[in-house]
Amino acid sequence: MNYRANILCLASSLLLGVGASVSAQNEPDPAAAAAEVEQALHLTPNLENGRKVFMVCTVCHTPEGWGRTDGRYPQIAGQLPSVTIKQLADIRARNRDNPTMRPFTSPRLLGGAQEIADVAAYIAQLPMSVNNSVGPGMDLEHGKKLYEDNCTDCHGSKGEGNAAEHIPKIQGQHYSYLKRQFHWIRIGKRRNADQKMAKQIQRFTPRDEMAVLDYVSRLHPPEERMAAPDWQNPDFPKFYRGLPIR
Ligand code: HEC
Ligand code: HEC
Repeated sequence: MNYRANILCLASSLLLGVGASVSAQNEPDPAAAAAEVEQALHLTPNLENGRKVFMVCTVCHTPEGWGRTDGRYPQIAGQLPSVTIKQLADIRARNRDNPTMRPFTSPRLLGGAQEIADVAAYIAQLPMSVNNSVGPGMDLEHGKKLYEDNCTDCHGSKGEGNAAEHIPKIQGQHYSYLKRQFHWIRIGKRRNADQKMAKQIQRFTPRDEMAVLDYVSRLHPPEERMAAPDWQNPDFPKFYRGLPIR
């Protein structure tokens, strides 16, 4: 059985065990999420434990944390810890819908606020891929202008985000992931969205949306945060990469 199958098997057996408590609470609980964020932000992260927690995340986000260029799984490497903490707490409390990932955020698999802080710190120090997928590149001047007028104040001129305000780093992100999230934020489907952002982008046309996200997909982290193109995460050696576990 390969690594992915092992993890999925482990996950489903654990989930069966907690089925009753999971189904008891199906409503979004933003207050629980906010409390967990507060708690995790004030803990001292343990990187070594973060590496262990990250193992389950590698199944989808890859051992490098670079996700997939088709945008199904986002790049999470290098993300600001406060952002990862908020997204994990929101997904777990159903304050952001993510049916694919949510089972893996159960306390049995992920742990509590400490483990969230640990894995967020581990993810933050991973070097970022700059081979993310980008848009068609036809309307970049328009995209740049829209970005500077509408996004820089919050996400920063290079898409570097803002830790204190838990505003995501969006540089280096896969184009179709950006498009999906942006669209969901605009139409109100992403429940944990920033209301000011949602308002700011209400009038964006399909052309605007494409142009600004095409521009964003070409923003890069500073050189010292970029991974070499062939970098492989040494914390997850070969036998984690689809070969049988010994
Ligand atoms: C079964 C696959 C799967 C696993 C396992 C998984 N994720 Fe995810 N994750 C996803 C998907 C799919 C999305 C994007 C969902 C969407 O489009 O809204 C996502 C999104 C995220 C996001 C939001 C990123 C952003 O830019 O807002 C974070 C953070 C994240 N995952 C962290 C983790 C961590 C940490 C783990 C391990 C504890 C993990 N994921 C395990 C599938 C997975
Ligand atoms: C008022 C501040 C603000 C403005 C203006 C703003 N954003 Fe955001 N944006 C946020 C915050 C905060 C989040 C995260 C919300 C959450 O989930 O907690 C976010 C989330 C996002 C996401 C999802 C990121 C992810 O990793 O899932 C994208 C993409 C995005 N913004 C792009 C943009 C673009 C492009 C613009 C300009 C057209 C813009 N934003 C304007 C604050 C802002």
